[in-house]
Amino acid sequence: MALRFFDFPVAGDDLRADVLAGLAAQPKAIPPKYFYDAAGCRLFEAICAQPEYVLCRTEQTLMAAHLPEIAATIGTVDCIIEPGAGDCVKVRTLLDALRPSQLMVLDIAGAPLAAAAGLLAADYPGVAVTALGMDFIHNLEAAAPYLTADRRLVYYPGSSIGNFAQDDAVALLTRFRRLAGESGQLLIGFDLKKDPVQLHYAYNDAAGVTAAFNLNLLTRLNRELDADFNLDRFRHYAFYNPIAGRVEMHLVSLVEQTVCVAGQRFHFNLGEALHTENSWKFRNDEFSAIAASAGWKLVFCWEVDGFAVQLYG
Ligand code: AVJ
Repeated sequence: MALRFFDFPVAGDDLRADVLAGLAAQPKAIPPKYFYDAAGCRLFEAICAQPEYVLCRTEQTLMAAHLPEIAATIGTVDCIIEPGAGDCVKVRTLLDALRPSQLMVLDIAGAPLAAAAGLLAADYPGVAVTALGMDFIHNLEAAAPYLTADRRLVYYPGSSIGNFAQDDAVALLTRFRRLAGESGQLLIGFDLKKDPVQLHYAYNDAAGVTAAFNLNLLTRLNRELDADFNLDRFRHYAFYNPIAGRVEMHLVSLVEQTVCVAGQRFHFNLGEALHTENSWKFRNDEFSAIAASAGWKLVFCWEVDGFAVQLYG
């Protein structure tokens, strides 16, 4: 088995700086990438098992149903690059179909990534695996020296791109273009616009798992930034905003209160929101316009039950 792992230690300082800046801003906001500590990763997996949240299961169904056609359309690939690979499970389907000689996985959570990449490398002895623990949103260029193979495919599944406002999405897809190279390709999955009531329930599941996921951010800040958030004083509040075309998640203060974070005090009014996530939903044509601004040309589009996977070259 061939595995190399490199950690780019950025996450710790970024959390503190981003959270302090976000709590000082008006409205208050914290970037959604900080949901994913160990407990957050487990809660996200639990969300994917909820009956109301079909996004992950629908993408799996789509990939399974269309895999031969997707692989044939992509053609020969030497290297798959997956930003935000997490537990490295999704990419296995593609590895089986495309049989590249190299795989590069990146994730902001370095330690879990290294463990997952180790399991993967053991199962795929013919694949040279490079795992990079890094915040690829800021630091993607650091990955470039590790790219040696010619025909490269960037794989960005799971509607992760939905977390980015349009300008940031264009910027990220532009960097993917540079990583993939001129002859490279991009296979990207995203959630489509659909019945807003269905979207509402997807982010307000009856078992309260999404609420626990949202509130876990405060638990993380209590632990890692020595904060004193009282979780009983904040309400998970998520809704689909059809004007903006996105689900918004907030933690709304149920009382007037002051919270201490990393030695600084922050005041919340009764009813004040801490904005924790946007999940944009797209039509196929809206998304290909965004990708086109980043220099990608649409090759093919697959769609199943309100979820799309698009291939770009
Ligand atoms: C992982 C960003 C695709 O936006 O649907 C799930 C995260 N947030 N429930 C999404 C999430 C609340 C998810 N993404």
